[in-house]
Amino acid sequence: MRILITAGPTREPIDDVRFLSNRSSGRMGMALARAAVEAGHEVTLLLGMGASVEVKGDATRCRVIRFESTADLESLLAEHFRGHDVLIMAAAVADYRPRPTTGKIERSRGEPLDLRLEPTPDLVTAVAAGKRADQRVIAFALEEPDRLEARAAEKLRRKQVDAIVANPLRTMDAGTVEAVLLTADGRRLAPGPLAKDDFARWLVEQIPSL
Ligand code: CTP
Repeated sequence: MRILITAGPTREPIDDVRFLSNRSSGRMGMALARAAVEAGHEVTLLLGMGASVEVKGDATRCRVIRFESTADLESLLAEHFRGHDVLIMAAAVADYRPRPTTGKIERSRGEPLDLRLEPTPDLVTAVAAGKRADQRVIAFALEEPDRLEARAAEKLRRKQVDAIVANPLRTMDAGTVEAVLLTADGRRLAPGPLAKDDFARWLVEQIPSL
């Protein structure tokens, strides 16, 4: 299969030198890319800035393309999804972005600065809405543990994806995950606590059943 994976944080420009970002390390997405290459798939990894590439194995089967902002990732998805069978959307996409100013905002004016943020488009929803019948889309949901599955199930329906990985919030900086996979056909698969690499292998194995 040809698998498109997004990983890492977006950076939303405030001006030409500053940006808003998040704490995503991209490790889950990179583990997925490694696992998919190991399993013999062809991978394109769209990777946020700041996340370092750790994809070993057959480098010829993993192409890495960097993105910065949500807008960059949006164009890359529009360009590349059609050439792939599956999208795994592990990137931590900004929910809000400033309207960027060119040049550099200067502190020397000494005035308080208000940043007005506007919501970003939901990229995975747009991709899922335009997919062919032979393509599959898997989203991620990072949630507070007490409402993890309810919120993930709601996102699965709202985003119209084929499956969603429900992850407790603490996963963001951790080496292990205790995630649950909810599928559009009503299955709930819980592999138990696993190292990120083992979880990635498990998730890649589930793809044909979607
Ligand atoms: N996502 C996306 N585009 C966005 C925001 C999120 O494609 N602008 C994707 C993420 O990559 C992830 C999934 O949607 O696969 C869930 O992301 P999450 O931030 O949990 O969902 P939101 O819709 O932003 O919901 P909320 O902020 O209300 O929790």
